Amino acid sequence: MKAKPQPVSFRPNLDLSVGQPPYTHQIIEGDNHEALQFLQSTHKAQIKCIYIDPPYNTGNTNFVYKDRFFKASHPCRHSAWLEFMEPRLRLTKDLLHPEGAIFISIDDHELFSLGLLMNQVFGESNFVTTLIWQKNFAPKNSAKHFSVDHEYILVYAADADIWKPNPLPRTDRQNQRYKNPDDDPRGPWMSDNLSARNPYIEGSYAITCPSGRVISGPPPGRYWTISLQKFRALDQDRRIWWGKTGDQVPRLKRFLSEVNPGRVPQTFWPYTEVGHTQEAKKELLSILDFASSADVFSTPKPLRLLERILRIASGPDDIVLDFFAGSGTTGHAVLNLNRVDGGNRQFILISNKEASETCPEKNLCRDICAERLRRVIEGYTNSKGETVEGIGGSFLYLESSGLSSQAAI
Ligand SMILES: C[S@@+](CC[C@H](N)C(=O)[O-])C[C@H]1O[C@@H](n2cnc3c(N)ncnc32)[C@H](O)[C@@H]1O
Repeated sequence: MKAKPQPVSFRPNLDLSVGQPPYTHQIIEGDNHEALQFLQSTHKAQIKCIYIDPPYNTGNTNFVYKDRFFKASHPCRHSAWLEFMEPRLRLTKDLLHPEGAIFISIDDHELFSLGLLMNQVFGESNFVTTLIWQKNFAPKNSAKHFSVDHEYILVYAADADIWKPNPLPRTDRQNQRYKNPDDDPRGPWMSDNLSARNPYIEGSYAITCPSGRVISGPPPGRYWTISLQKFRALDQDRRIWWGKTGDQVPRLKRFLSEVNPGRVPQTFWPYTEVGHTQEAKKELLSILDFASSADVFSTPKPLRLLERILRIASGPDDIVLDFFAGSGTTGHAVLNLNRVDGGNRQFILISNKEASETCPEKNLCRDICAERLRRVIEGYTNSKGETVEGIGGSFLYLESSGLSSQAAI
């Protein structure tokens, strides 16, 4: 009988770690299937926010990692990709906190396969949404059919009935819509329609404007949204706007100081808000030097994209996991967000070496992911020669011991 393979253990490499124990964050070098097995003993049901950016199975040989399972025309290409993803996602489910959620970047190549697999592993009822990230800003005229501007982020919760996205901070643009033309001491406000199409039995009364003009009722086909009694009370409290001349159809004043301080996240994420692919490459190149353009890690995600996900899906004390960490953008975004909101989020990143027969000495995890985060923590000189102060922090670098966890104990 074939012996059951034992989970591999991981041992700390203090030379590659940053800071002093107890380390806040972890970077694990190795295959993520083994690392996810390893985390079962330490982080079961503890991770609030998981983000992954797996190989998209594009059949594109230019990728610096093995993003090719079968030729694009091969009839088994989807099943091979699914066989790779399925055991990893099953292990992930057990790590997710009951109030947590997983966000998965994907494009058209495997969107449908991934959705069906996720329905199987996480349950269709836990599907939350498909986000659209506008990754490009210019059309590619060489496109065979359409120039693709976007990719997707699938969101599943451990339990969609419980999971709630955090509101996003209101933008300056949103706040600029609030003005104060009547110098109201309650501050800037925005006016809102007081009539709607929904029939309302008490919503058909006549109104006399401060100028003396009588408005016989709401506009045709509409109803006032409040009763006359409520309307009078609001007017007495100077919450009704009659226009500068006191002669216009009344509107309701909504004060900035009274609106919800956050905004509900929407599903379309334009690059103006969360960055694009070129921005991501620039961010990485400003921190790390690459010997040649062939060595540049070509598929990083922009920091703003990850910051948005973390704002929505993590609180200040939560643990964040990325097991296709690549260049470590998720870790960098965790450090940035902690600095902004004073949080103590911890990241666990799993990245492989990407070594191959032609490049056996390559170590993506050590030389790009960990090195990027070391520089961000300790400070560095960027590509323009400017000094960038370190954010501070620490991480433990773990690498495969090559031993099964039982043998290693
Ligand atoms: C699209 S990249 C992720 C990029 C990342 N989001 C960033 O911003 O840098 C996918 C990464 O997954 C890695 N990868 C692929 N298979 C893996 C495996 N079995 N274990 C660990 N990492 C793997 C690849 O080497 C690649 O770096």
